[in-house]
Amino acid sequence: MFKGKTKSQTARVEGNHKMKIILGPSSTELAEKIADLTGFEKVSVASRVFPDGESYVRLENSVMDEHVAIVNTTSKPQDSNLMQLGFLANAAKRNGAKKVTAIVPYLAYARQDRIFLEGENVSIETVAAMLKAAGIDQLVTANIHAETALDKFPFPAKTLTAIPLLAEYFLKKGFTKAFALAPDKGAMYIAQQAQQILGGEAENLEKQRDRHTGQTTQTGVHLKVKGKTVIIFDDIISTGGTIVGAAKILREQGAARIYTACVHGLLVGDAEKRILDAGVEEIVATDSVPSKNSKVTLAPLLSEALKAL
Ligand code: R5P
Repeated sequence: MFKGKTKSQTARVEGNHKMKIILGPSSTELAEKIADLTGFEKVSVASRVFPDGESYVRLENSVMDEHVAIVNTTSKPQDSNLMQLGFLANAAKRNGAKKVTAIVPYLAYARQDRIFLEGENVSIETVAAMLKAAGIDQLVTANIHAETALDKFPFPAKTLTAIPLLAEYFLKKGFTKAFALAPDKGAMYIAQQAQQILGGEAENLEKQRDRHTGQTTQTGVHLKVKGKTVIIFDDIISTGGTIVGAAKILREQGAARIYTACVHGLLVGDAEKRILDAGVEEIVATDSVPSKNSKVTLAPLLSEALKAL
């Protein structure tokens, strides 16, 4: 049953009625922040998991004739969160929404955006097709692993960068001119974005991954890090292996203090402990994957993007 508008909601709608924000169950806090920053009206979601593990969602406010933005991340449990996102899009369209934008802070399966070994699938292509079938018309995410993954979407999809927000976190702590290190060549653009805010140097290590075992090896040219504060920037920290390897090289080369920042802190298993044990003083992530390491919110970035749509 849809609830009618309250008096205060009506006042907000008159002021800013461009779209409504659907508070997806996996990103409720972030969605609330976005609604507060944009002034867009919120749509609550009732959700639960059936005893057999299937997901259930229901929109609790009207979306009739609205452009809606569903905020729902797809970190662990990835498959359930993806299904919830699809279900919410279907519910929005069935209940009269005229346009559905998906705000997916962390987009699962984006790393399998091409065939690495014969016989594989392209996971993100399947995800994109499923989201289209569910009723999503456009998608916004943050720091997708490779922008080429966006080409697999049959509707407009774009990625934003949260690296300046992460660098500003360190700047506020007084880390002016800190050394920004990318743990591999692919992340060098990330280190360079951080460098623009921090005003120090930026370098990258080299990383090779064995596609069969997933094992990585890193090598570092001589980095000028002796006695310096270094922040290792990456898009994702998953098992922590990449950061542990980079921290080892930094210690060997005499870095004074080591920190790490990523957009998506998946931090699976004992990743956090392994990183801290490797001599990293602090792990900073965004709320694309909500955890105690989510010290930087994506709300301002995503709010501006929504206002500009
Ligand atoms: C891969 O190239 C990504 O940018 C990350 O470096 C990677 O996903 C991190 O994975 P892990 O924490 O398991 O080393």
